[in-house]
Amino acid sequence: MDPVRPYLLTGAGGVIGQSLATALGPGRVVGVVRRGGNLPGPGIETTTGDVTAPGLGLDPPVRRALAERVGGVIHSAAVTSFTRPPDEIRRVNTDGTAHALRLAEEAGVPLHLVSTVYVRQRGGSAETGRSRAYRESKQAAEDLVRAARVPWSILRVTVVTGDSRTGATPRFQGIHAAMKSLVTGDAHLVPVAPGSYLDFLPRDHVAACVLALLERGATGEHWITAGERAMTIERFVDHCLRFAGRRGWTVPRPRLVDSEMVHRLILPAFGDSLAADLRKRLELFTDIVGPLTTDERLPGPAPGLPDPPDLGAALDAALDYWGARVRLVRQEVRT
Ligand SMILES: NC(=O)c1ccc[n+]([C@@H]2O[C@H](COP(=O)([O-])OP(=O)(O)OC[C@H]3O[C@@H](n4cnc5c(N)ncnc54)[C@H](OP(=O)(O)O)[C@@H]3O)[C@@H](O)[C@H]2O)c1
Repeated sequence: MDPVRPYLLTGAGGVIGQSLATALGPGRVVGVVRRGGNLPGPGIETTTGDVTAPGLGLDPPVRRALAERVGGVIHSAAVTSFTRPPDEIRRVNTDGTAHALRLAEEAGVPLHLVSTVYVRQRGGSAETGRSRAYRESKQAAEDLVRAARVPWSILRVTVVTGDSRTGATPRFQGIHAAMKSLVTGDAHLVPVAPGSYLDFLPRDHVAACVLALLERGATGEHWITAGERAMTIERFVDHCLRFAGRRGWTVPRPRLVDSEMVHRLILPAFGDSLAADLRKRLELFTDIVGPLTTDERLPGPAPGLPDPPDLGAALDAALDYWGARVRLVRQEVRT
C-alpha cells in the first residue's frame, strides 16, 4: 500500500484494535469507533460508525471522503463475547464484514479481516452453544472475504492476553474468567483433557504480526498463533496457582478431566443428585475454558513473523494486571 495512505480500522477501541492503532501510529490509521465506545488511544484519528449498518453507518460524504483517502481496510470490529445473543453476533460479525468489504470495494483497496482460530472446529473440547454462534459468524465472514472483488487477507488470531510487559487490556475476556476460576479455587474439576494446549499471545505481539503481514503485502489466509510455543493447560494452571500463592492463598490443584467424560459420564451418572451449583460450575467452566483449549497444537504462524515474547512472563503480567483490578474471593476448600 502507498505509505501515505492510512488504513481504515474498524473495532479500533477493542483489545486488538487498540494495539493495532498504536502499532500503526498517528497518521497511518483512521479508527472507526462506536458512539460512546472505547477509543483507540491518543493522537489516533477516529470517526463514529456502526458496522451493522450499510456503509458502516458513516455519513455518506464522510464515507466517500474516506474511500478516496484510505489505502486498505482492516476489519477488526466484532462481538467477541459468547454470551451475546446469536442474532447480534451474526449481525455484527457477519453482516458487519459484508459492510466493511463493500467499503473496501468502493475504495478499490484491500480488505484485511481479523479473524479467529475458532473458525477451526476444535478437537478435545466440547463445543458449547455459545461458542458455536461465534464460530459460525466468523466462518461466514471468512466466506464473504474469500469472494471479495479486491485483494484480501484473513488473519486468524489466537486467544489474546494483555500487553506482553504490562498485561494491560481495555477489557477482560474468557481467559481472565478461566484465571478467576483457577486462582480462587473455584475449579476443582477442570473439564479439559490433560496435555491440552492453551494457545495465546499478548495483544501487542498480535498487532506486530498483523503489521508485518500488511507490510509485506500478504494476501490469503494466515495464522497468528503461538503454534509450537503454545502452553499446556498444566502450565497455565501452574501460573494461576503461583499467582494465588503470591497472594498468600493455597489453592488445591484441580483435576483435569476430559470434557467428554464430564458430559457423557459424570453429569448424567450423578443426574439430579449432583449439586446444582457443581453442575453449573462445570458447565460454566466448559463454556469458558473448553473453547480456549485444543488437544493438538494450532497451525503455527507464517515464517518470518516476529518471535513471540516469553509467554510465561506475559501470562504473569496478565495475571498481575487483572488481579489488581478485580475483587477476588477465595472459595472455601472442599474435599
Ligand atoms: N480477543 C481475542 O482473544 C481474540 C482472539 C482471536 C480473534 N479475535 C478477533 O479479533 C477481532 C478484534 O477482537 P478484539 O479482541 O479487539 O475484540 P473486542 O475487544 O471485543 O473489540 C471489538 C471491537 O468491535 C467494536 N464493535 C462491536 N460492535 C460494533 C458495531 N456494531 N459497530 C462498530 N464497532 C463495533 C467494539 O466497540 P466498543 O468498544 O464500542 O464495544 C470493539 O471496539 C475480532 O474480529 C475477533 O473476532 C479476538
